[in-house]
Amino acid sequence: MEEFEDDDLTWHKVPAKIDESRNYVKALHVAGKKLCLISEGGVLSVTSSRCPHAGADLTHGWCEEGKLICPFHRHRFDIETGKGDEKQHNFIRVYPLKKENGEFFVGIKRSLWDKIFG
Ligand code: FES
Repeated sequence: MEEFEDDDLTWHKVPAKIDESRNYVKALHVAGKKLCLISEGGVLSVTSSRCPHAGADLTHGWCEEGKLICPFHRHRFDIETGKGDEKQHNFIRVYPLKKENGEFFVGIKRSLWDKIFG
């Protein structure tokens, strides 16, 4: 898999073809992580896939009005900021995404281990 570094981030090529014209929530496997790829109303987002409430797999969730809905207890997370609805007091991580030469790359922070030995 193609990747390159940029400050504290390593940019990993998204292995799946991204169709920006459809709405969906699906799993994205990148750099040994399972992330959540969301396409909703022309907004593309990559988030963590584990719900901070009780660990449900958010890749089985769906979107409503710009929010990712957890399939277990319906916690709602903004797909652009990761912020949970006010009373939830939680959030999910949103990973930076960029497009270069028609291909998408997701930025994943380098761990301290990677910085020392990478
Ligand atoms: S596990 Fe996601 S809302 Fe409870």
